[in-house]
Amino acid sequence: MVAPSPILRRAVADTPALTVTVDGVPVTVHAGDTVATAVLLAGSQPYRRTLIGSAPRSPFCMMGVCFDCLVEIDGVANRQGCLIPVRDGMRIRRQTGLSGEESVQ
Ligand code: FES
Repeated sequence: MVAPSPILRRAVADTPALTVTVDGVPVTVHAGDTVATAVLLAGSQPYRRTLIGSAPRSPFCMMGVCFDCLVEIDGVANRQGCLIPVRDGMRIRRQTGLSGEESVQ
């Protein structure tokens, strides 16, 4: 039997539902989902912006290589959203550049 992909797992999630916030908006996710999944589910675009040129970015590799998934989590900037599992009550904020001082507009 072939294991379901992470995307298909979303459709048949059998893990507990959790609530996180993305830029202050509550998002329902499931235990085992990543922070990047939560931001994508929130539907906010773009996922983040680059420091130089404010180019829009979105998670690409989903395995810790490209760093296009950087977000602020519970006040700590520059976390790789694709590698970090969600926790109930987690506060996630999209960021611009590397500092996390500006949120994405
Ligand atoms: S999506 Fe590439 S490092 Fe996270």
